[in-house]
Amino acid sequence: MRTHPHAQPTPAPFDDVRPARRGRATGRAVVGEDPLLRAAYALCRRTTRAHDPAIHALVQLMPAVLRPACWALWAAASALDDLADRPGVEPARRAADVESWTKALEHDLAVGASTDPIRHALVDTAARWRLDLSDLRGAMATTREDARGLRFADWAQWRAWCSREVAPWVEQVRHLFDQAGAPMTLRLDRQADYRHFVDGAQLTDTLTDLSTDLAQGHLLLPREAMEPFPGAEEDLIRRRWSPAVAALIAEMTVLGRRWLTRPAMTRGMHPGAAIVLDTAAGLMRLQLDAVDAAGPTLLARPPRPSVAARARVLLPARLRSAVAWSLTPLTVPAVRPAAAVVVKTSGPGPAAEDAGLRPPPPHRDGARPPHIAADKMPEHVAIIMDGNGRWAQQRGLGRQEGHRVGTAAAHEMVYGALEIGLRHLTLYTFSTENWKRDTDEVTTIFQTVQHELDHGPLRDLNVRQRWSGRPDRLPEDLVHALEREEHRTRDRTGLTLTICLDYGGRDEITRTAAALAQAARVGDVDPRLIGPDDFARHLPHPDMPDVDLLWRTGDEQRTSNFLPWHTAYAELYFTPDHWPDVDRRDLWQAITEYGRRQRRHGAALTSSEHQRPSPHTQPDSRH
Ligand code: IPE
Ligand code: IPE
Ligand code: MG
Repeated sequence: MRTHPHAQPTPAPFDDVRPARRGRATGRAVVGEDPLLRAAYALCRRTTRAHDPAIHALVQLMPAVLRPACWALWAAASALDDLADRPGVEPARRAADVESWTKALEHDLAVGASTDPIRHALVDTAARWRLDLSDLRGAMATTREDARGLRFADWAQWRAWCSREVAPWVEQVRHLFDQAGAPMTLRLDRQADYRHFVDGAQLTDTLTDLSTDLAQGHLLLPREAMEPFPGAEEDLIRRRWSPAVAALIAEMTVLGRRWLTRPAMTRGMHPGAAIVLDTAAGLMRLQLDAVDAAGPTLLARPPRPSVAARARVLLPARLRSAVAWSLTPLTVPAVRPAAAVVVKTSGPGPAAEDAGLRPPPPHRDGARPPHIAADKMPEHVAIIMDGNGRWAQQRGLGRQEGHRVGTAAAHEMVYGALEIGLRHLTLYTFSTENWKRDTDEVTTIFQTVQHELDHGPLRDLNVRQRWSGRPDRLPEDLVHALEREEHRTRDRTGLTLTICLDYGGRDEITRTAAALAQAARVGDVDPRLIGPDDFARHLPHPDMPDVDLLWRTGDEQRTSNFLPWHTAYAELYFTPDHWPDVDRRDLWQAITEYGRRQRRHGAALTSSEHQRPSPHTQPDSRH
């Protein structure tokens, strides 16, 4: 429920957009020559200004090269919001429209262009700035659910909704700054300030949009906040101004101001980014003043601060930000040639792209991997990525959504593995037992993997990808894509990523035994002399090293038929978080924990090891 005083129900058809005027930030220097693209960005800018003048003003405080990307992101979020909130349209229909928009975006990202101007600009932004828009899937799924009406019992629920729906979009903007070389790094010791600030921003929005939200059947203030004011909730639902409502609103604006006033938050940040955030806080405090001054009209329309009041905050900020950014050399990606946005008809081509390998994108908070001594570093980490279904169900979403959102966590693990220097990462993606699930769920998992293989962000990292699993039951296209990627990435050296799909440990062992029997039959091995090494040589991937660390998320402590041969001596590590909630820092934590374990492989402890003061100083008994 972002502020949307002049909501446009649907994005304008592409034919209708006006060409961008010369000399604006959508000019050639930033966006390039392509007139369609320039028109698309111009529409995004107008949409941002119409939906939320304050956001538009804040974007103007950013360096000119970043503005088009911000408009594209904001216009896309607003377009989705409008679809979810269209007055007079059935909730189911609105949810379906949000879903089709989201699906269309997936398609557009795959082909690199769109017939819808806002998505066209967004696709261009994603490619230009290397943004991973799959991180937005969870936010889009939440917007779809919003179409059904929102109520929160307490602040925790309200906060969780905000962090699902709004935070991922803000994260994209932060990522944009990172990519441009002006990271909005927040100091760890200021995290609490940051959280309060985000709460303050959300509360300001909630209060501003009270009238429009009530008209849509949403009441976003949590019950916990309304309870101390008996009758206020009922009055709000009936859109009746009463002393209880007035007292509630007064209390909320005080709380909002307290949350927003975080003078220490931006200390140490890049001055340009700090000006943007400080000005945002200033504008939101003005907005809260307008809420206070509105009285009963708060229930009729969103209040607005006066132009003069806004100018008092914005004008000095504009001057200061222009100076701050002029002192910072920004990394600006090359303008994409117009041909790159022409709709492609075939899938991704072969090895030609290998020249363009890129490093993993940095963690969104700028987190860096810990230093791990070489003898404490596992060679092979295998992960049972569990909990997608429960993650989604706990949010009232379909299990499928969990699998879609879980993809972002898989990206994170690969990024984290590359950053910490892991050699082998193996991910359990679909087991031979998972065929017991509904066809819809199985299909979603396969489609998600197929999309990743064809268009995912891991494609141009220094990662050798391969597949382990039964070769005879998966859809033909998927098998083709798995084999194609295995071939295309075969000479890469950074990390070996094995995707276990239709994988079962017993199936692997049975097939290995069959291969060994066949070798014996033709006389290649003598059955009386078969040992573990002969067995290992007949495994589907004989070069896969033993698993050093087996990590399972999702609060289950079992191995579910995963890599029984390779994990015979693995260290086991179980964590409670559901898969979509983890990121690369959790992988680093797992590896750090592994470094503390004492591996003996059946040997006895020596007496000096018994007396060891701390496991950290223990030499690894593997060697
Ligand atoms: C793991 O998540 C992913 C797959 C098995 C494909 P789940 O789908 O098993 O999630 P839960 O265990 O039901 O929460
Ligand atoms: C294991 O998870 C398989 C994958 C993660 C792909 P499951 O959720 O299927 O395992 P069980 O059924 O809980 O053991
Ligand atoms: Mg499970």
